[in-house]
Amino acid sequence: MERVAAILFVGDIVASAGRRTLRELLPGLREEFDLDFIVVNGENAAGGIGITPKHADELFAAGADVITLGNHTYRHREVWPYLDEQPFILRPANFLRSQPGHGTCVFERQDGATLGVVNLSGNLFMQAASPAFATVDEALRQVSGADHVLVDMHAEATSEKVAMGWFLDGRVTAVVGTHTHVPTADARVLPGGTAYVTDVGMTGARGGVIGVKREQSISVFRTQMPARYDASDEDPWLMAVVIRTSSGDGRPSGAASIETILRPASSATNDSGRNQTR
Ligand SMILES: [Fe+2]
Ligand SMILES: [Fe+2]
Repeated sequence: MERVAAILFVGDIVASAGRRTLRELLPGLREEFDLDFIVVNGENAAGGIGITPKHADELFAAGADVITLGNHTYRHREVWPYLDEQPFILRPANFLRSQPGHGTCVFERQDGATLGVVNLSGNLFMQAASPAFATVDEALRQVSGADHVLVDMHAEATSEKVAMGWFLDGRVTAVVGTHTHVPTADARVLPGGTAYVTDVGMTGARGGVIGVKREQSISVFRTQMPARYDASDEDPWLMAVVIRTSSGDGRPSGAASIETILRPASSATNDSGRNQTR
């Protein structure tokens, strides 16, 4: 008899502001939602691009059970061997087999409940070795038998993410989109029982441009000249979804609900969005 589970999925952790916000807010969220599993996308954890072993360890220490990644996976060389050695950090499953790391894992809680996680990369405007739609069946076989299955579809195009949601509806517990760093308002449980959202958003400085200092980003757009990008620290928020699984003995479980969570850190300069209406 399987018990209902609550899964928190946190959108792309961006730089120190994102890591700090996760550390600050996760304990409260764990209690508030009685969380069973915590998955975070960490592809921007190190200075805004990529992740290092130190920062991955920091996310695990903060409470992440599984870390997913995306197009910035290999930015820092020192993480390459770590991706092979650490079972609970994933890079997209549709990268080349020869690229470091792996794209699926099954995390087991002390009470024996299991969550399978699959990381995928979109193919539109993104570089990935094989089509996500051609790889996902094999990836799901690797996590078959898990009580719940969550898929992080890291993609630029909304169409590709919506299509993946429909493709996997009824076959997994949740399909969550990442990469664009802006949360979409379409979180819902699809008719087949799969929780879906096109983009969870990011955990980082909302005062920047998807994590970058806004003056720098605006300057590049205005002058059409390259410039350095530094991570913004202004107005950090945590953006996530909580998925509650449905009862019953289906495996993987379906979802009973999916809820968007948008929370300011204590250092947020603008908490006008607390009511989520602007
Ligand atoms: Fe990305
Ligand atoms: Fe990202």
